[in-house]
Amino acid sequence: MSTTSSPAEQPVLRDTIAGVRVADLARSHGTPLYVYDAEIIRRRCRDLAAWDTVRFAQKACSNLAVLALVRSEGVMVDAVSTGEIHRALAAGYAAHAAKAPATDGLPPVHPIVYTADIFDRESLDAVAKHGIHVNCGSADMIEQVAERVPGAEITLRVNPGFGHGHSQKTNTGGEGSKHGIWHGEIPEVLRRAEWAGLAVTGLHMHIGSGTDLAHLAEVAGALERVAGEIGRSLTTISAGGGLPVPYKPGEVHADLSGYFQLWDTTRRRLEDRFGHRLRLEIEPGRYLTAESGFVITEIRAVKKQGGRKYLLVDAGFNTLARPVLYGSYHPMSLCPQAGAASETLEEVAVGGPLCESGDIFTQTDGGFVATRPLPPAAVGDYLVIEIAGAYGFVMASNYNSKPLPAEVLVDGGKARLVRARQTPEDLVRGECV
Ligand code: LLP
Repeated sequence: MSTTSSPAEQPVLRDTIAGVRVADLARSHGTPLYVYDAEIIRRRCRDLAAWDTVRFAQKACSNLAVLALVRSEGVMVDAVSTGEIHRALAAGYAAHAAKAPATDGLPPVHPIVYTADIFDRESLDAVAKHGIHVNCGSADMIEQVAERVPGAEITLRVNPGFGHGHSQKTNTGGEGSKHGIWHGEIPEVLRRAEWAGLAVTGLHMHIGSGTDLAHLAEVAGALERVAGEIGRSLTTISAGGGLPVPYKPGEVHADLSGYFQLWDTTRRRLEDRFGHRLRLEIEPGRYLTAESGFVITEIRAVKKQGGRKYLLVDAGFNTLARPVLYGSYHPMSLCPQAGAASETLEEVAVGGPLCESGDIFTQTDGGFVATRPLPPAAVGDYLVIEIAGAYGFVMASNYNSKPLPAEVLVDGGKARLVRARQTPEDLVRGECV
C-alpha cells in the first residue's frame, strides 16, 4: 500500500506498526488495542543519555513490560502512589539506593522516588515498609515521614512561582497550582525538616507537562536560587519532566543538547559552590513513550449529520481521554480492510461509541467538533490513533461498562500481549447484588 500524506505531511494510510501488520494485530487481539513499538521507547531513552539519571514518570505509561524495558535501558522510575510503587517493584526495580557510593563520584541513585503532594495512609505505609525515597510536595509530609522513617533523607519539590503546560490543567507551577512547596516558604520548611531530624538531600522542580524548552529553561535559574538557600546537604537536583513531543503537523523535536548544557552548567556552578558532586536528574513521562503508542480501532459506522461526515469507531474517551479532557490533537491514519484506498482525502469527524456528545477524537479545546482529512473509509476498516503512548492507556476507564483494552508490545518484529483485555467478569469483580 502506498503512503499518502495529508497536506500537513502526516501519513494518513498505515499498513504496519513496527513491522507488524495492523490487520493481524487487530485480528489476534481485538480492538480497541494499544500497541507500543519497543524500539521507539529505547531510542527516546538513549536521547537523554547525557543526564546522570533519567527517571521515568511512569504515570505516562505504567505497563510492567514498558517499565521493564526502560529499566533495561538504565532508566530509574518515579512513583506517585502505592500502586506505582508496587508496579516499580514488580518490574524489577530495587526499593532503595545501594549503600556503596557510585564509582563516578556521584551520590548513589534512588531507583524509585515517591513524588506526591500528600501521603495517603497506604502510600506512607508502603514508603516506610520498602524504604522508598520521598520527594515532598507539601511541607506536612515532612513530619509524617519523620514519624515513620526517623532520620530519612528527603527531596523537596519546589513550586518556583511560575509554570507552563499544553493546557491550564497540566500547568503545575505558580499560585494557580496545588503542586510543590512554595519557593518563598523554603526557610520555614528547612527549619521544619531540621526539627523533624530529616536531611534535605534533593531538590526538584516540575513546572508542567507538554511545555516547551523556553519555559523549561527558566527553571534552571529558579532551582539554582533555591539550592543556594538549602546549601551543602544537597546531593541531587532534578529538572522535572515536561519535555515536549511533536503531535501536530509541522511540530518538530526540541533541541535537547542545548537544554542539557544549560542544566549541566547550573549543576557545575552549584558543585563549585558546595565543594562536592551533584547528581543531575530529568524526569520525563511523555517524551519516553508518547510516540511509541498507537490505538488500533475498527470503524463500525460511517454517517452524515447534515453536511458533516462522521466515522464512529469502537474506541471512545474511555480508551483515550486526552481529546475530551484537553482538546488534544492525535494524528490518525486509516488501514483499509480491502487493500488500496483512494488517494483523495475528505474531511471527517471521528467519534466513539459512548453515550455522550464529547466522545469525539477530532475536537478542539472547549469541546468543539473539528474534522480531519482522511481517505474515504468503510465499516470494517481500521483507524489508527497515533502518538498515544503517553497518558493513553493509563487514563482509560470503564465508563459505559467498557472493558479496558489489551496492550501489545512489538519488539524485533514480534508482537507480545503484555496486558489482556478485560473480560465481562473483570467489570463486575468485587461487586455484589
Ligand atoms: N514529574 C512530575 C512530578 C509530574 O507531575 C509529571 C506529570 C511528570 C514528571 C512527567 O511530565 P511529562 O514529561 O510527561 O510532561 N494527562 C496529561 C499530562 C499530565 C502530567 C502529569 N504530571 C496529558 O495527557 O497531557
